[in-house]
Amino acid sequence: MRSPRRKPITAIEPGLPLLTLKLPKDSSFSSLVEVVLPKRSRDELILSTRNVRTFLGLMDEFRGADLLRRHGLDIRSKLLFCGPPGCGKTLTAEVFARELGLPLVVARLDAIISSFLGETATNIRKVFESAADQPCVLFLDEFDALARARADGSEHNELRRVVNSLLMLIDRFKGKGFLIAATNLEESLDAAIWRRFDEVVIFDLPSQREIRRLCELKLKNFPVPFSIADKVAELQGMSYADVERVCDNAIKRSILKRSKTLIEADFNFAVREAQRRKEVRARLHPH
Ligand SMILES: Nc1ncnc2c1ncn2[C@@H]1O[C@H](COP(=O)(O)OP(=O)(O)OP(=O)(O)O)[C@@H](O)[C@H]1O
Ligand SMILES: [Mg+2]
Repeated sequence: MRSPRRKPITAIEPGLPLLTLKLPKDSSFSSLVEVVLPKRSRDELILSTRNVRTFLGLMDEFRGADLLRRHGLDIRSKLLFCGPPGCGKTLTAEVFARELGLPLVVARLDAIISSFLGETATNIRKVFESAADQPCVLFLDEFDALARARADGSEHNELRRVVNSLLMLIDRFKGKGFLIAATNLEESLDAAIWRRFDEVVIFDLPSQREIRRLCELKLKNFPVPFSIADKVAELQGMSYADVERVCDNAIKRSILKRSKTLIEADFNFAVREAQRRKEVRARLHPH
């Protein structure tokens, strides 16, 4: 018998019901994850051309999964997001889930990591098991906290156990959606982790062009009577989140002065503030 043809999932519109996610009644599971209905849209996200290409390819495979599986092919579904803080790893996971019409299941590290022997590995297994049953994007943020390199020495037996079971669970993950792990400490990941993922996606600091695009996006509702392009060089080396803060702060200062347009001096002030923050951060975290 032919299975009924399913309507292809296209980009979802705000307010469209997402596929419903049935969580098991087991109360311990609900405390291990948070189910988020993704709200942020692709219009808010700036990605490098390479990353756009990667995500479009992944979405094509997901939508054509039945066809690919009939040919005995697996779809790429395990993604590792790396890169410095504030460059869009978490935002992209949310936008990606929304584009696919899937709920975002965010693993709660604070609840998963337990001081009881063996319990962390058990908790991770529960999270994986449940996410395998229903279409969703399982998001493991701060993945380094779970996948730190297995150090030698007997006192690290627990860590070894956690990493070993994580490796096994990732290997076996054949979810109906995606597994996304994210870290800004990729150098501390266990070497055996990398090849478990179908794609490693790097989220870099924005280029000058990307900084400009982000400024234009963030300032789109507020007239700017000066050239943003001239300011971009001063923002180089900052993350997207830093640049966003500069724009927000500049807008707030201008609004508080009852100005209808962005005041150039306020933008310059916000840039200097951000540069100062960056210096403080560099002193606190020299590496
Ligand atoms: N590529 C981007 N395009 C547009 N906005 C961005 C981008 N990256 C970051 N932002 C803005 O900065 C905020 C923080 O970014 P996000 O939480 O995605 O960073 P992250 O890479 O997950 O950082 P961390 O490593 O600290 O978890 C986002 O909610 C968004 O408003
Ligand atoms: Mg994040």
